[in-house]
Amino acid sequence: MQEQDFIPQSKPDPIESGKVSWQSPSNIALVKYWGKKENQIPANPSISFTLNNCRTTTSLNFQHKKAAENKGDLFEFEFYFEGKKKEDFKPKIYTFFERIEKYCPYLKGYQLTINSENTFPHSSGIASSASGMSALALCIMSLEKELFPTIPEDYFYKKASFLARLGSGSACRSVQGSLVVWGEHAKIEGSSNKYGVEFSDKVHEVFKNYQDTILLVDKGEKKVSSSVGHNLMHDHPFAEDRFKQAHKNLSALKGVFASGNLNDFIEIVESEALTLHAMMMSSNPYFILMKPNTLEIINKIWAFRETTGLPVCFTLDAGANVHVLYPEKNKTEIFHFIENELLGFCEKNQYISDSVGFGSKKL
Ligand code: PMV
Repeated sequence: MQEQDFIPQSKPDPIESGKVSWQSPSNIALVKYWGKKENQIPANPSISFTLNNCRTTTSLNFQHKKAAENKGDLFEFEFYFEGKKKEDFKPKIYTFFERIEKYCPYLKGYQLTINSENTFPHSSGIASSASGMSALALCIMSLEKELFPTIPEDYFYKKASFLARLGSGSACRSVQGSLVVWGEHAKIEGSSNKYGVEFSDKVHEVFKNYQDTILLVDKGEKKVSSSVGHNLMHDHPFAEDRFKQAHKNLSALKGVFASGNLNDFIEIVESEALTLHAMMMSSNPYFILMKPNTLEIINKIWAFRETTGLPVCFTLDAGANVHVLYPEKNKTEIFHFIENELLGFCEKNQYISDSVGFGSKKL
């Protein structure tokens, strides 16, 4: 589907008012997206596990503006987070609305109220932009569906992912499916730079209920935002090789998903995590988001894997927290290890138990 396919071709009859709600999950990338072109087009393809427990629930109330109340060319909305009005979140949402205006021209005709809440603690250092932006994009698509009742399901989800991408790149991987690819890749049919698609090749049973224990090493605000980090890839000395490597790693993972070879899985996933942080450390200006305890945890995981042979590994996102990944069938021994040896490195021993989920849900 092309960009112009997402522009409505007619002006719908307005609806007086209504309310729609969606719940959308977070995701954790296995091959990382780091670096982008204009309009949130990724510099390389990525793939992620959709999570099950880290979710955002968002509802959108819409009220058609009467001609007399219409203040002209403005988006009018209120935003509430966990029941409290949040003025400081509004500029980000306003920018999002501006980016999607061309594709959702009906939005300015409505007075909107957005209510949002997360199932995970807001100050956990877990990025809520993927779940938050995808939930909002889905609510907007439900409004669109009421205005254009004949839009097909495939179009609905592709456009939801397309809109979510314009809010926050990785959010486009949170809409539908357990393993989601975003970014064109020669060996993945249907893959697109514009939206996420469910990985539809063979996936071995072991990955269907993979566990992710998220260790909250540092709950503080990040020193360098993802958007600054992505931009630093523009003049990065290793950028081109990194982008090629992501294509190669995604090809290799495709084989691993089919075979279930966990040694290869671990090697690719850990290398991707460390490469992401190596890119940050070799940017100009350079920066480090890992903390001493991030490294303590990584070393403990390596030592435990070496002695027990159990298939536990880690990945990182753009922060200090560690995602510990392992198969469901090894949950008892590995969780025992996490409790005894890793939780001490977390802020107040905090962690989130998660596993692979299935995507968003209309409420
Ligand atoms: O979606 P953004 O702009 O917050 O970037 C996310 C980048 C990583 O989490 C580091 C990697 C990824 O692919 O999710």
